[in-house]
Amino acid sequence: MTEKDFIPQENLNYPKKGKVAYKAPSNIALVKYWGKKENQIPANPSVSFTLDACATRTTLTYHQKEDKSDFSFDLFFEGKPKEDFKPKIETFLKRIESYLPYLREYHFTIETSNSFPHSSGIASSASGMAALALCLLEIEKEATVNQDSEFFNKKASFLARLGSGSACRSIKGNLVQWGKHEGLENSTDLFGVNYPNKVNNVFKSFHDTILLVHKGQKTVSSTVGHNLMNGHPYAASRFVHAHTNLAALEAVFANGDLNQFINIVESEALTLHAMMMSSTPYFILMMPNTLNIINAIWTYRKKTQIPVCFTLDAGANVHVLYPESYSKEVIAFIKTELVQYCENGHYICDKVGNGAKKIELK
Ligand code: DP6
Repeated sequence: MTEKDFIPQENLNYPKKGKVAYKAPSNIALVKYWGKKENQIPANPSVSFTLDACATRTTLTYHQKEDKSDFSFDLFFEGKPKEDFKPKIETFLKRIESYLPYLREYHFTIETSNSFPHSSGIASSASGMAALALCLLEIEKEATVNQDSEFFNKKASFLARLGSGSACRSIKGNLVQWGKHEGLENSTDLFGVNYPNKVNNVFKSFHDTILLVHKGQKTVSSTVGHNLMNGHPYAASRFVHAHTNLAALEAVFANGDLNQFINIVESEALTLHAMMMSSTPYFILMMPNTLNIINAIWTYRKKTQIPVCFTLDAGANVHVLYPESYSKEVIAFIKTELVQYCENGHYICDKVGNGAKKIELK
């Protein structure tokens, strides 16, 4: 498929007004997207677990307006107007306009809230952009007879990507791959797809407990971090490394080899942060407690042989990943040894989930 396939062909009869709501989950990358080209095209392929509990719920109310010269929307976050989110939404609308040509015809009221605590340091752009893309695309669906759901999901992911790259991996569950990779059939830079090869059952119920080391705003945004991969001295080899890791995961996903899984996932997390530390300007998003947690996980794993590992996104918080069959032991370990490193002792228990869902409105 190409970008052109997402431009509506016919002159559709769009609804005059309506209301739609979606819940979209967050996701955690196993092979990281870090570095991008023009138009939100990733510099390397990535793969992620879709989460379940960490999600954004968005309601979109719309009605056609007279003046079609500009975008018009109100934005409410957790019930309150949120002016500082508006520029990001405006940029998003501009980027997706050619694929949803009706955006200037409506006034939108966007009401959004997260299931995870506000300013927990958890990125909400993936779940937020995915939920909004789904709501906006629903208008096209309303106007189309028999739109097939596969196309709808692809287009939702395609649109979400233009809001935030990782958001394209938040439409479907439970393992989603994004970015062209030679070994993966149907892989594309344009949208996320369900991981196409065999996935062992162990990964379908994996747990992710997110340890909130630092709840504040990150000092460097992902977007700035991505841009610092341009001209980065190790960028070319990092992009090759991501391809190699994705290829190596094929056998791991199929046979459930947790030792290999751990080696690849932890290496990806540390490589991501190594890229930040070797950018110009360089920066560090990990905090002392991030390292304390990593060391405690390594010691515990060596002692117990329980296959628990960590990954990181672009921040100080630590995602603790483990199979469901060990959840009792790992939760006990988290409570006795890791909670001390969390801000106010806070952490979020999550697991692999099935993707975004439409919320039926009464
Ligand atoms: C470290 O998707 O937040 O979480 O496309 O600029 O919005 P933008 O970036 P974003 O980057 C996510 C980076 C990451 C790795 C990942 O999720 O793959």
